[in-house]
Amino acid sequence: MTPFPVRLFATGLCLVSITSRTSRDASASEGGKCTIATKGDTATARACAKGGRADAKKVMKEMVKQAKANGEKFACDSCHKDLDNYELTKNATEDFKKLEAAAPTRLGS
Ligand code: HEC
Repeated sequence: MTPFPVRLFATGLCLVSITSRTSRDASASEGGKCTIATKGDTATARACAKGGRADAKKVMKEMVKQAKANGEKFACDSCHKDLDNYELTKNATEDFKKLEAAAPTRLGS
């Protein structure tokens, strides 16, 4: 049978590796904090403040879905030049108003 201190040590190691792994995944896979929707009171900005890009992405997807249900078609890449840094296209801010109008549910609050 394993002596007690050895078991304790093994348990400790295991816990450390679990916690460090989960925190690293969360920031790397979703790009962490927002860099665009950092102010204002849009649903996206509120989601950013709450849960960073991961939450913003969920809200944007939901808005696009609601707009679609209202007969308005939007695609992520018509407003975002690329989906790694989410840089906005020229028409993005204008179109965002249309998107908000077509997806009136107050999200992320
Ligand atoms: C109609 C234009 C439009 C469409 C379509 C759109 N977005 Fe956005 N998105 C914006 C604008 C404008 C902002 C900045 C909002 C603000 O400043 O409050 C934004 C912000 C974001 C952000 C926050 C980025 C940051 O770093 O601040 C994410 C993430 C995002 N959008 C993901 C998506 C995804 C995923 C889709 C597709 C499901 C999508 N967007 C569709 C216009 C759009």
